[in-house]
Amino acid sequence: MRGRLLQPDQIDEAAALLRGGGLVAFATETVYGLGADATDPGAVARVFAAKGRPSFDPLIVHAADPGSAWGLADLDEVPAAAKPLADEFWPGPLTLVLPKTHAVPGIVTSGLDTVGLRVPGHALARELIRRAGVPVAAPSANAFGGISPTRAEHVAVPCDAVLDGGPCMTGVESTVVGFADDGTPTLLRPGGTAAEAIEAALGRPLASPDPAGGDDRPRSPGMLARHYAPRTPLQYVARIERLSPAELGGRRVGLLSLRGEAGRGMGFSSIEALSPRGDLVEAASNLFDAMHRLDAAGLDLIVAEAVPDTGLGRAINDRLRRAATPAA
Ligand code: TXA
Ligand code: MG
Repeated sequence: MRGRLLQPDQIDEAAALLRGGGLVAFATETVYGLGADATDPGAVARVFAAKGRPSFDPLIVHAADPGSAWGLADLDEVPAAAKPLADEFWPGPLTLVLPKTHAVPGIVTSGLDTVGLRVPGHALARELIRRAGVPVAAPSANAFGGISPTRAEHVAVPCDAVLDGGPCMTGVESTVVGFADDGTPTLLRPGGTAAEAIEAALGRPLASPDPAGGDDRPRSPGMLARHYAPRTPLQYVARIERLSPAELGGRRVGLLSLRGEAGRGMGFSSIEALSPRGDLVEAASNLFDAMHRLDAAGLDLIVAEAVPDTGLGRAINDRLRRAATPAA
């Protein structure tokens, strides 16, 4: 169940729907978002309902340009490290969690006094937001916990329209960076901007979130252990060479791996190679697409092999780990 498919030349219809409080799924460079006017609490409530998303998981607000994004942040309270990151990586797959102004209703941020802000790298997304004339709150356009959509046809949540912007180039969600009370930049979610590139821009390493947390709310609720999960059981393994043929015997098992070649001759029913030449950027762009295909293949099990844990490989391994079925 989902809304009418709109082509880029119908962008004004999509913008009018957003302005009128409707829900529009739209392409960004990372994944398709399920957008609503961020200043309209009723529209934002419908986003949570459409996804079946718990109200404690805050939404990212998307702006058409950096100036509009800064307009939603409390500039007196913004940590010094935020500005150089925005200058370097906006537009692009980086979300900065910053102190918010009153323009952002509490339902967007689940009551937090910070808001996740991002300027998407996809020109059609920026144009949609510009024409809507409002900031757009948008989680990934999948049912809560499911696989993120990287093509218009993946969008399966109820909405008024889907604006087709083609396949997503980056393919994994934005990197989310927050700031500790003392301003220390912290990696809340690995994603489409490599942590190494952010650290190079900062001239210092990113901190990890304090696992103890300050209160009982998750630091970045999207970091819930199970997420991005296919319906088919998924096993995440360091190396498939460690699987015995007996483990595969008699079952329809699919393989998701970087190059795919090590799985040949092991009896897999289907193999998805994310990047036969081993390019992690290409692999990220294929990740959710490959997961969607394997999930539709009628398999008993998906085996996903870890990729090298550098660059976008970190985001890929993070998503695979969270897609894995917990051991019984
Ligand atoms: O690439 C993306 O970020 C995509 C596209 C559509 O822009 N959006 C996306 O949204 O991935 P979503 O809702 O699936 O993930 C948002 C993440 C969650 O982990 C959420 O907890 C975190 O951002 N987040 C948002 N606002 C936050 C805040 N104020 N404090 C901490 N974490 C926040
Ligand atoms: Mg999501």
